[in-house]
Amino acid sequence: MNFESTAEVSIPKDPLERVIGQNEAVKISRIIAIQKRHLLMVGAPGTGKSMIARTIANLLPSPQQELSVLHNMDRPERPILTVRTRKMLEIEKGEKEKEWGEVICPAEVPSFVSERLGFRCKRCGDLSSSRALYCQSCGADKYPNKDSPFGDLLPNSEQRDGRVHAVRIDEDGEEEPVIYEKTEDDRILKLTYSELKKRSVAKAKKLRKVIVPLNRPTFIQVVGNNETEILGDVRHDPYGSHPEIGTPPYLRVTAGAVHEAHEGVLYVDEMTTLGEAQKYLLSAMQEKKFLITGRNPSSAGSTVRVESVPCDFILVGAMNINDLPSLSPALRSRIRGSGYEIVLNTNMEDSEVNREKMSQFVAQEIQMDGRIPHATADTVEKVLEESRKICRLTDNKTGLTLRLRVLSGIIKLAGDFASLENSEFIESIHMNQAIKQAKSAEEQLEEKYGNIWSAGMADYGARLKKGSETA
Ligand SMILES: Nc1ncnc2c1ncn2[C@@H]1O[C@H](COP(=O)(O)OP(=O)(O)O)[C@@H](O)[C@H]1O
Ligand SMILES: [Mg+2]
Repeated sequence: MNFESTAEVSIPKDPLERVIGQNEAVKISRIIAIQKRHLLMVGAPGTGKSMIARTIANLLPSPQQELSVLHNMDRPERPILTVRTRKMLEIEKGEKEKEWGEVICPAEVPSFVSERLGFRCKRCGDLSSSRALYCQSCGADKYPNKDSPFGDLLPNSEQRDGRVHAVRIDEDGEEEPVIYEKTEDDRILKLTYSELKKRSVAKAKKLRKVIVPLNRPTFIQVVGNNETEILGDVRHDPYGSHPEIGTPPYLRVTAGAVHEAHEGVLYVDEMTTLGEAQKYLLSAMQEKKFLITGRNPSSAGSTVRVESVPCDFILVGAMNINDLPSLSPALRSRIRGSGYEIVLNTNMEDSEVNREKMSQFVAQEIQMDGRIPHATADTVEKVLEESRKICRLTDNKTGLTLRLRVLSGIIKLAGDFASLENSEFIESIHMNQAIKQAKSAEEQLEEKYGNIWSAGMADYGARLKKGSETA
């Protein structure tokens, strides 16, 4: 080892370079992120499937489209899908925040306007803040209460005008209506009619629900086969969208994982647990859009439909070799038709280069964990030994194992022991402790009671099985 501790081992910046022993998969992952292809990874647990899927997602550019549904006045049960791009959203935001019209001082408007807005005194003509009820120069009240017999004594601030309409003659001698409005900070806003209109359009709140926001992760993971989670849903409304007490259909629409993964990666761990949902997934991949409707036929949501909701995702599927036969052939051929299928390695050659890779792996795990100290060269040597052992026992081969989750667990455990002792490094003694501790339940049982499938236990197992069959 050409280092004393893993603190000296350099960790690549490129996240794909951090995946060790899976050169083929790494090469393909780069292509997938650029060309937007699908990927099926077949491999043993802990060999880096999830890690690779996450990395592909990180290589993708940030999403450019937001998906939302609008209330449909004519047919509320058919909310209207809208796609707004990042650019459109930026423009809309600008319009909303834009100051329409021109802010001017009370002295710059016709005097009847400043009087009505409460800046100018009707008696002496002096200007003062519109918030003052009495003229600051002559003391006259600016808002005489016309309806009250004591009107001249009790000014009525309710009578202040917030807005005055007037007519202006423009350059061509044409009359143009203008509006003067009091601003929050006691000044006057002058607006032409067209400006007023644009402002109200910009400020108008559409009846809209964003179902897939613009700023979202590009990595969406599906576990299990919950159809509503995968495909979206329209919630039930016990009040049947009643105009007063119900919730309008568009507000009850929720996107599924296929939609949330639009422009990103949809990671399906254990593909075969999808069951029936495989065929929906296939159709979503083919069409790149998928209907959202209430998935419970007896619910009020099932009458609501939003057609063609975009779902242009990269499918990254993972599974065990044993499950391959239960994968839908149609889905599989779809992936192969526009993507790749790879089997991950479970071990690699015990070479100089690969031993270095293992040191890098140890350094990475320590860095990622963030709470454990670095490891000495001896410790890395121990990790290599353990790696050889696992390779021999599980794959019956000489080499280094790539079932790295197991090793990762041992390293962290050893790290915890080192931390407990306030040790500067993870030493090989901590590794020994960790290896002992990390034994799986099966291994511990075997140690204590011998092989559970040896005579007595197997017999017991068989009896159990028989019992449950007759029960
Ligand atoms: N090929 C690899 N290169 C580097 N680290 C790995 C690799 N495979 C697994 N690991 C480590 O083990 C952890 C678990 O791996 P994971 O990607 O979840 O395995 P899988 O999804 O295949 O079961 C990862 O977070 C990573 O720390
Ligand atoms: Mg995984």
